[in-house]
Amino acid sequence: IKKIAVMTSGGDSPGMNAAIRSVVRACAYYRTECVGIYRGYQGMIEGDMIPLTARSVNNIVHKGGTILKSARSKDFRTKEGRKKAYENLKENNIDALVVIGGDGSFTGGVVFNKEYNFPIIGIPGTIDNDIFGTTHTLGYDTALNTAVDAIDKIRDTASSHNRLFFVEVMGRDAGFIALNAGVGAGAEEILIPEEDLGLDRLLESLKKSRRAGKSSSIVVVSEGDKTGRNVFELADYVEENLEDYEVRVSVLGHMQRGGTPSCFDRVLASRMGVKAVELLIDGKTNLMVGLQNNEIQTIDLEKAIKGQNDINRELLRVSDIMTT
Ligand code: F6P
Repeated sequence: IKKIAVMTSGGDSPGMNAAIRSVVRACAYYRTECVGIYRGYQGMIEGDMIPLTARSVNNIVHKGGTILKSARSKDFRTKEGRKKAYENLKENNIDALVVIGGDGSFTGGVVFNKEYNFPIIGIPGTIDNDIFGTTHTLGYDTALNTAVDAIDKIRDTASSHNRLFFVEVMGRDAGFIALNAGVGAGAEEILIPEEDLGLDRLLESLKKSRRAGKSSSIVVVSEGDKTGRNVFELADYVEENLEDYEVRVSVLGHMQRGGTPSCFDRVLASRMGVKAVELLIDGKTNLMVGLQNNEIQTIDLEKAIKGQNDINRELLRVSDIMTT
């Protein structure tokens, strides 16, 4: 392996820059050339690349977003698109690829590897934490802290006005952000896709809180929850069915994807980047690096996509007890 390319793909997440830096510096350490591909697979198809040296990644460890930009490429889903991408890699003498992204990006990588036998290692970068084979994806910890910070602020105004707030958090089809930020911020109720307890239970629980003397409440709603209503419809339903509650909605949205990465995410990114490069130099491919029992481990890229991270049942129970 003489030349490794690195790119970020799919939804960005805090810590991606720290991971790029780690890949680039590990390449420099092992005297391997490094190239950055802009805008993920789309940039690969368009040949949008830049040589990266250890000095190209100065002062980015603490920055949110990704200096290489990111995209979800439709063209890469076509055979012609992937052919063009392969030709560009070959033309630039690139021998292997590090993909920093989520399951969509890894799926693309697996297909590409099957067609062209091109060495690929994945680094899980998404705020959703929905990748199997790692307890933490890059950016998840930062997104959690951002969400908790925002909910703390909402709590202040909820309390001043005796209001019930519905706060929607991201996570796509997974409830990891909602459950953990909900417990961390002391939410009354947490609605996640993995556990649909129904609207009656929600109403009952809010009534119970009222009876227990709480004058304001926060319900954290995961964007993928299974109530069959969006967060605004949910809020309307609750307002209609609960007496004396003024209800408001706050959708946190993309602010959860930005901002300075936490120390945890920076350290994780540094560890994962080094491991990804070492694996490629050792002739390994089709693996994802992940964190398990606080150690950097590897898992088959395909398993990482197909497997399902279970929601933490103990945390669900703790959350129930905390609302007493
Ligand atoms: O996968 C990350 C994520 O932020 C999800 O939480 C969310 O559902 C989705 O991406 C939003 O995507 P977009 O940036 O295309 O609106």
